Formats: sequence, C-alpha cells, structure tokens
Amino acid sequence: MSFERENIRRMSGYVSGEQPDDDRTLKLNTNENPYPPSESVTNILREFDPVQLRRYPPPTAARFRELAARLHGVDTDNVIATRGGDELLRLVITTFVDPGQPIGMTNPTYSLYPVLAQIQDCPLVEVDLNDSWQPPSTFAQQMNDAGVKLTLLVNPHAPSGILLDTQEIGNLADELDSILLLDEAYVDFVGQDYDSAELIDKHDNLIILRTLSKGYSLAGLRFGYGLGASSLIEPMLTKTRASYNLDLISQQIAEAALADQTTAGNNWHRVIEERERLRDLLAAIGLPSPASHTNFLLVSAPEGIGAEEIYKKLKERYILVRYFASPRLSDKLRITIGTRSENEQLLAALTEILGNTDPTTA
Ligand SMILES: Cc1ncc(COP(=O)(O)O)c(C=O)c1O
Repeated sequence: MSFERENIRRMSGYVSGEQPDDDRTLKLNTNENPYPPSESVTNILREFDPVQLRRYPPPTAARFRELAARLHGVDTDNVIATRGGDELLRLVITTFVDPGQPIGMTNPTYSLYPVLAQIQDCPLVEVDLNDSWQPPSTFAQQMNDAGVKLTLLVNPHAPSGILLDTQEIGNLADELDSILLLDEAYVDFVGQDYDSAELIDKHDNLIILRTLSKGYSLAGLRFGYGLGASSLIEPMLTKTRASYNLDLISQQIAEAALADQTTAGNNWHRVIEERERLRDLLAAIGLPSPASHTNFLLVSAPEGIGAEEIYKKLKERYILVRYFASPRLSDKLRITIGTRSENEQLLAALTEILGNTDPTTA
C-alpha cells in the first residue's frame, strides 16, 4: 500500500542538471557563474567561530533583508530571504494558491514550475511563447479566463535569454487578476537599464524573485530573496516560512556577498563580454542563438546534425551542456557562458564535431 498523496504518486520529481564530481569535466550545463565569489566570503568562512552555532540564527535574516532593501530602494518589510529562489517559489505557491486552483506559466519555462504545481496538486495553464520567445499579447487575458491564481514568468527568459522591459512587466501586472511572480534569477546579466524593483510600489500583486546563485557565484550556498508589497511578503515571513529557514553561516556569507557590489558587478561585466564574443563565434560556426540577457545562450543545431548528437559528442569530450528533449527545444542546446579559456575549449570541440575544420588533419 502506498502512503503518498495521489498527486505525489502520479508525478515525477524535478530532474537537476548533471553534476559530475570529477575535475576534468567542463560544466556549461547549469548556468553557474565561472568566476569566484567576493573575497569577503572567504574571510567570513576563515574567521567564522563555530561557537556561534550554539544559538539559533536570526529568524528572518533581518540584516540581510536590510541590506537588500537598501540596494533596491525599498523597505525591509518588502523583502523576504529564502533558501535559494526555489524556496521562494514553493512559499508563494503554498501561501497563495489552494490545491486545485490553476497556476499559469509560459511554455517553455523553468522546468521546476510544473513540478511545484504538481506538489500542490494545482492544474497548469501553459501558454506558448511566440517565435521571438515572448508571451503573446493575449497572455494576461488567457490567464484571467482560465482563473489562474498565480502566474509564473521568468525574465530574462530561460532558456532563450530574451528580456521584456519593465513597462511590459508593469502592463502585465496591471492586466492580470492573479499574483505575478517575476523570476529574475538571471537579471544580473541583463547588461542594460532595467530596474523592476520600482514596480512593487505600484503593483500589489507583484513578487520579484532574486537569487545569489548566479550573479553572486554562490549556487552552492542556497540563498535567494523576494521583493514585493508588504501585504504579500508578510504572510510568507510570519506564517508559512520554515522557522529558521536560513542558517547563520549562509546569512553572514550572503550579507558579505551582497555588500560587495564591486566584485559582483565586475563578474557580471566579464560574463556579458564573453557572452557577446561567444555568441558571434558560435554563429560563425553554424550555431546561431537569440540575443541573450543572461549567462547562457540557446543555440540552434545546424542542418544535418541533431542537437542531441552534439550534446553527446561534447560529453564524450568531457564538456557538459544542457539538452532538453521537449518539442520546442529538442533542436537546441543551452550553453552556459564560461571563462574565456573554457569557451575556447568549447569552440574547439564544436568546430571539430561540426567538421568545420578537423584539427587532426589541419
Ligand atoms: C529560472 C530560474 N529560476 C529560479 C532558479 C532558482 O535558483 P536558486 O534556487 O539556485 O536560487 C533557477 C535556477 O537555476 C532558475 O533557472
């Protein structure tokens, strides 16, 4: 006999990107930052006194929230700190959506969203993106007509990298009857004027997701945060959040990383520069991709060789990229931007695989 709830028994869990534990593999598959975090993170770890662990950590990460509030020009009660962006998604769903109520999203999108909806036993309302990877003009209407309680939108978009501007986001928040969860996991790599935090004053149905995993090189830490009207933040902060959801070491590291905007900003700049260079070089060998505002590129495989085959051949050469076996994406690969030398290694391998030049006979 199974003790699982029926919806849990029916579902499959989230499939993480491959995480090899050897030093040889070049990992360009899970959008991690190729540069190290701030030196102040190293100092926190070096100087941390374990005696501090006798006590429970600050329950709501108040110092981190104050820092984040200052950074975004909002109040502390507009901020919640969470164990990665993923915990915020889970909190938003369990706080605001009853089992059975529809959750809306675009197709394609971040593959964790459907999994979290299934856990809450909520039907999905999926709307296809248009050919430019943007929501159609009827997106909000379709969500409203379907009675959606929560709309999940990633911007810049994953996996295409395209960006909607804040005007479009504001309009969408206005038109939607539901909460709009704006997932900005990759926003640090936008590379142009973009500040959605100012929208939360005007839209009491908007929650913005941020993470330290990508922009601050701290995917292993598990730290993210949400910004929103205090009426949305307060129930998550005081009722549905796990007590002491963030350990003391994480809180101190996250504070140090966020405070060092110079290191983070330099890393964003380096990733953006490499992204633009790599995009041109990949296009030149037959792998075009839409202009990206993230730390990855979604390249299309050329005629004559499938994306899956390229993925496998790269893997044989100890290079991991992301292949999605879904209808809209099965002819594409998502490639994380590495350092200059990592990207050179990738380009050499792809050139060989695509037969543009054969290094063994060159
Ligand atoms: C679109 C998107 N949103 C949110 C996250 C969550 O990131 P984390 O839980 O590491 O903060 C990710 C991670 O890959 C992501 O790709």
